[in-house]
Amino acid sequence: MSVPQSEVLQVELIASDGEDTSKGCIALVTINRPNKLNALNSDVMDSIKKMCMWVESEDSVRCVIITGAQPLPPAEGKRAKPNAFVAGADITEFVGKNSEEIKIQFTDNGVEAIWSLSKPTIAMVDGFALGGGCEVACSCDIRIASTRSKFGTPEINLGLIPGYGATQRLMKLIGYGKTMELVMTGEMVGAEEANRIGLVNHVVSPEELLDFTMNMAKIISSKSSNTLAVAKSTIRTSLEVGLEEGVAIEADAFAGLFDSEDKEIGVQAFLNRETPKWKHK
Ligand code: COA
Repeated sequence: MSVPQSEVLQVELIASDGEDTSKGCIALVTINRPNKLNALNSDVMDSIKKMCMWVESEDSVRCVIITGAQPLPPAEGKRAKPNAFVAGADITEFVGKNSEEIKIQFTDNGVEAIWSLSKPTIAMVDGFALGGGCEVACSCDIRIASTRSKFGTPEINLGLIPGYGATQRLMKLIGYGKTMELVMTGEMVGAEEANRIGLVNHVVSPEELLDFTMNMAKIISSKSSNTLAVAKSTIRTSLEVGLEEGVAIEADAFAGLFDSEDKEIGVQAFLNRETPKWKHK
């Protein structure tokens, strides 16, 4: 399967060891509709779904970073567009649609495809992350934002509620009261407040954002991909089941790793003061 490039979704492969992409790479995925603040139209969603299928099928991809395209230089006499991660679902595609039509569009969508990835995902947010943009970020495992980012769920202003999972996934991140506030007011929060309430993991300057995010992606990519997948699915379990059941599932997953080659490789490398050379790169 070749790298799924499209006009609205660009994928750049970056070697996770800084040298050779075939030994392992980070997929830097850019949603590319800067003149529409990277709003999620059907083309973007289809491209995201294809990209996710490709990521799952491609062993060399160790980690995925999702970001939004930077603004283009403004046309003469026009004002520059603001920085955006994603300013939401494309509202022009809502016009005149009824429930049946929108259900087809919103079922099995790109946000769910990102959420379903077994590999680690990081949202790199520089600018507006609103509505579906906030939900794309929430469907990633980790969120890193620039200081000029703004998060929100403004669907209430359209007579709507979030439709790509914010009432559930945002709620799990920031809790009941804050989700109610964001959804009911439609107001945005800045990056520092987003960090304070647990919506983002780190806030850095726009100039530092790429390096900071790449550095974290490289650290994650240096771990055993098998162990990472087990960690991700085990942590996910906590969203579905009660504490006792979750702890039992963790105990099984932990014990299961004792039959993996990478546990032996990791433990021996520690004892020999070496860097582990994982079987599952
Ligand atoms: N869907 C479709 N187009 C969108 C969009 C969206 N969600 N968000 C922004 N755009 C488009 C604008 O229509 C505009 O297009 P144009 O230049 O062809 O007229 C362009 O992106 C730039 O946006 P603009 O509104 O001019 O920028 P701004 O700096 O004045 O305001 C926002 C920025 C983010 C506050 C504003 O664009 C906004 O509120 N967007 C919608 C957010 C939203 O409700 N998202 C949830 C959707 S369910």
